[in-house]
Amino acid sequence: DMGALIDACGRKIDYLRLSVTDRCDLRCAYCMPEDYADYEAPGHWLSFDEIERLTGIFVSLGVTRIRLTGGEPLLRGRIVELVAKLRRHSGLSDLSLSTNGTRLARMAARLKSAGVDRINVSLDTLSRSRFLALTRRDALGDVLAGLEEARNCGFTPIKINMVWLPDFNGDEIGAMIEYCMDKGFVLRLIENMPMSDSARALGTGSLQALIESLRKRYDLVDHVLPGGGPARYLTTPDNIFSIGFITPVSQHFCATCNRIRLTVDGALHLCLGQEDRLELRHLLRTGASDSDLIDAIQSAMQRKPDRHEFSNSSHKLVRVMASTGG
Ligand code: GTP
Ligand code: 5AD
Ligand code: SF4
Repeated sequence: DMGALIDACGRKIDYLRLSVTDRCDLRCAYCMPEDYADYEAPGHWLSFDEIERLTGIFVSLGVTRIRLTGGEPLLRGRIVELVAKLRRHSGLSDLSLSTNGTRLARMAARLKSAGVDRINVSLDTLSRSRFLALTRRDALGDVLAGLEEARNCGFTPIKINMVWLPDFNGDEIGAMIEYCMDKGFVLRLIENMPMSDSARALGTGSLQALIESLRKRYDLVDHVLPGGGPARYLTTPDNIFSIGFITPVSQHFCATCNRIRLTVDGALHLCLGQEDRLELRHLLRTGASDSDLIDAIQSAMQRKPDRHEFSNSSHKLVRVMASTGG
């Protein structure tokens, strides 16, 4: 036993978000600028062997959950093979995927049999024209078909990530609730994190008033769902429909943060809302031993900040969300 990952605030880190590409086939305005082209060079991408080596180390250090993210993770070549490889770690209790859904219709069955336990799918609107306006791609039909196929393959629960943009999709909460009730999906409303100029331009706001009104309107009660993330869940008295809220702006959840993020080029980010990172690729490619890597990871944990700095306007993040996968 090589010990666990405990940071300076005493938080146990057991959830790794693994970004397998920074490419995406959509251009969601809150995530990346329309002309985003500053892609990481493929030569910088961690190979599957490098990812395998690092995940083995993380699992030995007590990581029990891995979530594959991007960019859009299903754009990474041979991703199904990577899933099957990761699945072999017996210490891993939860292998999940966050996707935009455009390729799910083609891939859901293979992902399921390779060992993906759970999927979360981004869907901010049910209107084709709004989807096009927000993502700059006409792909709503693909996403809805992908969700249908994922459900048919037996993925459960399927969580829908809806970034709440009051002036853009605020009038669609009712329609999204109906859609999710009908399909058996969990709806999650997410406050827009002001991580970039294009995200800030869409406005951020607090979900708290909306949560209270939904609680009354649907008689919602507290609930727990599979997952290790920051969402808080409510459910209807008959348990038929559950809704989650992710409130990084109005009520941050940093005190219980359990996660770190590895980018496709091998940078270990200690917090979504800060630039501080450990460059693991360089170590991997200059002959570091496992114990060198473990030492570097353990000492980076001590620098994990106690909370994000979204609310500090003097703090400018240059990174786009697509490089760390949310
Ligand atoms: P599970 O709870 O395991 O199902 O997943 P998750 O909610 O952690 O993952 P998902 O990729 O679906 O993320 C949903 C939203 O939560 C995205 O907007 C993420 O950016 C946000 N999120 C996830 N982890 C963090 C975090 O540590 N800090 C902040 N500020 N946001 C996070
Ligand atoms: N604020 C909140 N959530 C975001 N995501 C991407 N950018 C932002 C942002 N600025 C979400 C996506 C996806 C998840 C992985 O991260 O909607 O569901
Ligand atoms: Fe792509 Fe997801 Fe970012 Fe949208 S939010 S541009 S789907 S990575």
